Formats: sequence, structure tokens, C-alpha cells
Amino acid sequence: MIHAIAFADKETLTNGVINTKKEGYDLAQNISAYSFIAVSRYAKQYLNNPGSIITLTYFGSIRAIPNYNMMGIAKASLEASVRYLAKELGSAGIRVNAISAGAVKTLAVTGIKGHSELLKMSQGFTVDNAGVTIEEIGNVAAFLMSDLSTGMTGDTVFVDKGVHLM
Ligand SMILES: NC(=O)c1ccc[n+]([C@@H]2O[C@H](COP(=O)([O-])OP(=O)(O)OC[C@H]3O[C@@H](n4cnc5c(N)ncnc54)[C@H](O)[C@@H]3O)[C@@H](O)[C@H]2O)c1
Repeated sequence: MIHAIAFADKETLTNGVINTKKEGYDLAQNISAYSFIAVSRYAKQYLNNPGSIITLTYFGSIRAIPNYNMMGIAKASLEASVRYLAKELGSAGIRVNAISAGAVKTLAVTGIKGHSELLKMSQGFTVDNAGVTIEEIGNVAAFLMSDLSTGMTGDTVFVDKGVHLM
């Protein structure tokens, strides 16, 4: 099962973390992090043993990236959920991992103020000055969904061409 949804409203993303209102906080956490727990619970009954669950996260969970704000808080929560779900679902043969992807221009990213700077930064700090592609992220997802990765669970794997090193 692949979980690939996230959302925060514009006001919450642009006004700074200090000004976050409860409704904006709840909405971002609900859609971006709680949904992962909810769909994992639902998917559990349909997954084979060995089974695999993955979600998509971003480096803004562990570093204060300009403008990522509330989404970074939701992603930190999502990554912690990966570890706890991995522990709880391990006995059912279900692995749970996250891909921390480099920035790629999608609808979700264009909702972030200053997203072109974010994309430029993500490209400028890769080891070869070229951004990671959706195909490269998809290839790692295919690996994590396959039985080639049965030894991996509870992990957040960076697929960002080294941006997290810089
Ligand atoms: N694009 C990037 O640079 C990047 C980097 C790292 C992680 N991610 C993560 O990848 C995942 C997929 O995002 P994307 O970049 O492919 O963008 P996207 O816009 O293609 O996907 C976001 C999805 O979330 C869904 N969604 C939003 N609110 C929803 C709701 N209330 N209920 C159900 N679905 C809802 C949208 O319909 C959309 O399909 C997200 O978790 C995002 O944070 C993206």
C-alpha cells in the first residue's frame, strides 16, 4: 500500500509556525499524517505476508526549511508513525517504510510559497546539480514494495541525490 497524500491550507503554510491556528494544525496533521495510520489500519486485512506499506515524506521534517513550516511538523509526525507502525505490524509480516524524496514540481509543491526557490535549492544541492526525477523515486518505491527489501522496516530512505548530506 502506498500513501502519497499531504495538505495544509495556504494561511497555515504562509503565516509562520508561531501563528498556526488549531484548525490549520488539525487539518494538516489529519490529512498528511493521521490518514497514514487510518489507511494502514484498513489495508492491514488485505495485505499478504510479506507485505509492504510506504509513505512519502520530505527533509523539512528534520531541518527548518524556508516556507515548509507546518508541513515539516506533519512530516515529522508521519515519520514517527512509520516507526511505530513498523513495530506493531512486524508480527503480521508487514513492513512499513518512508521515502524522503527530493523536491519535484507537482501540484502539492506549487501550494508552498516560494516553491521555485525550494525546487532550485533541491537541485542546487544535489551531488550532480541535477534534480531527482519521479522515475528515480518510483524505482525506490518499487524496491521497497518488493520482496527484495524484506530486511528493511521502520526506515526513512532518502531519494534526493544527496541533498540531505549538504
Ligand atoms: N513533490 C515533492 O517535491 C515531494 C517531496 C517529498 C515528498 N512529497 C510527498 O509526496 C506525496 C505526494 O505528493 P506529490 O508531490 O506527488 O503531489 P500531488 O499533488 O500529485 O499529490 C498529493 C495528493 O494528495 C491528495 N490529497 C490532498 N488532500 C487530500 C484529502 N483531503 N483527501 C484525499 N487526498 C488528498 C491529492 O488529491 C493528491 O493526489 C505527499 O505526501 C508529498 O508531501 C512530495
